[in-house]
Amino acid sequence: MFLQSGGFRPPAPNGKVKIYECEGVPLAEHCMQPSTMEALKTWQARQDDVFVVTYPKAGTTWTQEIVSAVIRKGDLEQVNKTHTYLRNPFLEATIFSSTKDIDVPPTHEIIDKMKSPRTIKSHLPGHLLPPDVMEKKSRIVYVARNPKDLAVSYYYFSMGNPTLPQYDTWNDFFDDFCAGKTVYGPWWNHYLYYWKLRHEPNVLFLKFENMKKDLKGTVERIGHFLEYTFSDDVLDRIVSHCTFENMKANPMTNPDTLRFMKTNVESIDNNNIIPKDSHPFMRKGKVGDWKSHFTVSQNEAMDALIREKLAGSGLVFEC
Ligand code: A3P
Repeated sequence: MFLQSGGFRPPAPNGKVKIYECEGVPLAEHCMQPSTMEALKTWQARQDDVFVVTYPKAGTTWTQEIVSAVIRKGDLEQVNKTHTYLRNPFLEATIFSSTKDIDVPPTHEIIDKMKSPRTIKSHLPGHLLPPDVMEKKSRIVYVARNPKDLAVSYYYFSMGNPTLPQYDTWNDFFDDFCAGKTVYGPWWNHYLYYWKLRHEPNVLFLKFENMKKDLKGTVERIGHFLEYTFSDDVLDRIVSHCTFENMKANPMTNPDTLRFMKTNVESIDNNNIIPKDSHPFMRKGKVGDWKSHFTVSQNEAMDALIREKLAGSGLVFEC
């Protein structure tokens, strides 16, 4: 019932992930290849594309699910036919084949062959997103999350993940995150680029914390943005499909069911997806989990960083 991804997996980099700088942004070479980044400069978007763009761990998968359900007008049977990873291909990330006889094209070339309307995931900072996306005025749903929870979520996601650098301790990760050295670079540049575009008619800027506070309102907002209106019944159906608990239990929305994810599924017991390690993708889905990870001085340092980097922008977070 869940996606069997057969021989496809990112290469095992023996614990060492090669990071390179692409226009000032650290990227993982085997996944976001330099040739892909070059090709994306002239990659053609479509006017009816919907992009879900985020800094990693800001609520990408959640937002993708809402968008998927909205553009299928709440037809969840249709939504559940395909795994989120295939419904929302990851623009800049190439899936490698572990077998030499299968040549997997870069994802953007696979996307080229998809029928409209396409929903596309990207973590690219604004200056690396293909310029044609804004030129064509494709729709962008951008999600930001308070940087403290973002850091904690990213730390757990990185742990044991063969596509990301490994950190010995949370403190080491925290230092790199605050220095803008984690993959995809400084969260503040990422956020601010899209924040400045928030009044463009093709851009919807959301915050994870508001999605948590009012999921139904968020579904309505995304629906309105994509020009769909729903009856209360359909809205409630989409909301129920997109709760943390239901997404965690659903093999088509829980990335742990992908065999190439480091969290590989150990078993599926009724609706319980049991990943092989203790850090499932659908981890806690909470606001404020940082409080059980940050030391007092880390909290002070992060507050100072937020003040410094977001000063005068109008972008604020409840955290
Ligand atoms: P935590 O690690 O804090 O639990 P992304 O999809 O950008 O990688 O973000 C993953 C984060 O979003 C994880 O955060 C995950 O649990 C959370 N998440 C995913 N779906 C969610 C949902 N329906 N409701 C709340 N949080 C969700």
